[in-house]
Amino acid sequence: MEILEILSSGGYVSGEEIARKMGISRAAVHKHVLKLRAGGYGIHGEHKRGYMIVSRPDILSPAELERYFSKEDSARYHIYYKESDLSTQVTAKELAGRGKKEGAVVIAEEQTKAYGRLDREWSSGRGGIWFSMVLRPEVPPERISQLTLASSVAVCRALERKLGLEPEIKWPNDIMIGEKKLAGILTEMSAEVGRVRWVVIGIGINANNELPFALKDAVSLKTLVKADVNRAELLAGILEEFGRLYDAYGKKGFKALSREYNRRSTLPGKRVRVNWGNEVSFGTVEKIDADGCLRLLLSGGIRKKIIAGDVTLLKG
Ligand code: BTN
Repeated sequence: MEILEILSSGGYVSGEEIARKMGISRAAVHKHVLKLRAGGYGIHGEHKRGYMIVSRPDILSPAELERYFSKEDSARYHIYYKESDLSTQVTAKELAGRGKKEGAVVIAEEQTKAYGRLDREWSSGRGGIWFSMVLRPEVPPERISQLTLASSVAVCRALERKLGLEPEIKWPNDIMIGEKKLAGILTEMSAEVGRVRWVVIGIGINANNELPFALKDAVSLKTLVKADVNRAELLAGILEEFGRLYDAYGKKGFKALSREYNRRSTLPGKRVRVNWGNEVSFGTVEKIDADGCLRLLLSGGIRKKIIAGDVTLLKG
């Protein structure tokens, strides 16, 4: 057993008991305690009573996540945790390319070269939630964009359940609070005609991180709830919701979540400009259809179905 697991049961645990459970000496127990303290854990040591955890660091390590995981999620996810990474997306794609199984999740406390959709720079300082998941869905390549939509719903559900927020989705995958972007999702895949090899879904959430001054259209959780949030609990909640949605999607396809996606969407009824491929369309959004595509009513009454694009809301 790990020392963190033993101490996490709560209350004081004697050095003797820890030593016995770990199969090590009392002196070695003390060394482990010093290491935990250096890692940010507040641990009281009291003569005769032993050791007790009094505070925990705000980190996304496997040990911290594990506290909030169900048995099912512990088995579903395999965490690769990094203090700093260029981009969890790049790392996850490498793992996927090397054959790592579905459920590998790369998490970093900070990213130094993160990117978003259309290769845009993605600011990823400490305190945010930055992670990428490896999936191997048995779904044709043309449907993979639906998994991005499922991820958006998972993020919304967890934000609602854990923090009482009411986020909305700007199709396809921006998580918004009012007009400000709280989180973004990026889906990449490797496929051959008709068959997907792997999918990597990267999610970035502005949580307890500072936002660069220039990012005027973004907002963080700590600004919204006026306190630092428990990132480990929130991330575990997102992974739990995603797991549920992924299973439902596997059985029933996008049908399983299209109503909820629409209910959470900001765009229906709005006038928008959509850049897709080399084209630009202007119109009013009707809905996100049963395939996860954007249905646009153009002036002149023509309807368009757009699989992926960049949407700008038009005023008035
Ligand atoms: C977007 O809104 O454009 C998508 C942003 C996706 C950012 C995440 S953070 C974790 C993962 N690593 C990256 O480099 N990008 C994604």
